[in-house]
Amino acid sequence: MTTDDRRELRSFGRRRGRKPSPRQADLLRDDLPRFGFDVAEFSDGGTAWLEIGFGGGEHLLWQARNNPGVRILGCEPYEDGVIKVLSAVTDGALENVRIHMGDVRDVLRQLPQASLDRAFILFPDPWPKRKHRKRRLVNPALLDLLAHALKPGAELRLATDIGDYARTMLESFRDEARFLWQAESPEDWRVRPDDWPGTRYEAKAEDAGRRRYYFRFVKI
Ligand SMILES: C[S@@+](CC[C@H](N)C(=O)[O-])C[C@H]1O[C@@H](n2cnc3c(N)ncnc32)[C@H](O)[C@@H]1O
Repeated sequence: MTTDDRRELRSFGRRRGRKPSPRQADLLRDDLPRFGFDVAEFSDGGTAWLEIGFGGGEHLLWQARNNPGVRILGCEPYEDGVIKVLSAVTDGALENVRIHMGDVRDVLRQLPQASLDRAFILFPDPWPKRKHRKRRLVNPALLDLLAHALKPGAELRLATDIGDYARTMLESFRDEARFLWQAESPEDWRVRPDDWPGTRYEAKAEDAGRRRYYFRFVKI
């Protein structure tokens, strides 16, 4: 059953922007299946990371280039973002990237228990209006799915530029025995570590003068 069958609330905005050019349509038709998600590849105990909602793919591609021994799965329903990453993956022969064009929850339900070494959720859609807050992706149901898929000792990295979302993220983890927040001082959530490159959305937040919050949790 998919998130659509389950009638789960949609956590993302649009799926399509501009009509794909002929080359982009070829990428989606020929290369997306080649670099698509195959659960068997995540069942062998190898090192695997997951990026949820990679947007334009800046962080995903940086990690893939800098960690060639790690298989990195990106999930993103927005077609333009998928095209960008597919284009970079095929141009740069990045063999370690896999892409699911759709909702991450469909992938998390298929992944074997303890199959991921790291997961990233960077600047999830903020859904700032009160009536939309229930659409926020980071919630206890998602933590259940992540807790199942992450290995003990795996790291979960989260970022947001919305103070209220940062607070609800921390609230979701407050009574969580399965994750431990890795923060000893305010620097730990104010400053992005060196092995965590910035994203396009984050640059916009910075230009607009919004504070960014960076959280690291370890799966117990
Ligand atoms: C605000 S954008 C940030 C994109 C990117 N991480 C960045 O920092 O530039 C949030 C992204 O999360 C994606 N997203 C939202 N819900 C998702 C879900 N359930 N599964 C996968 N991606 C999702 C959206 O399509 C969108 O591209």
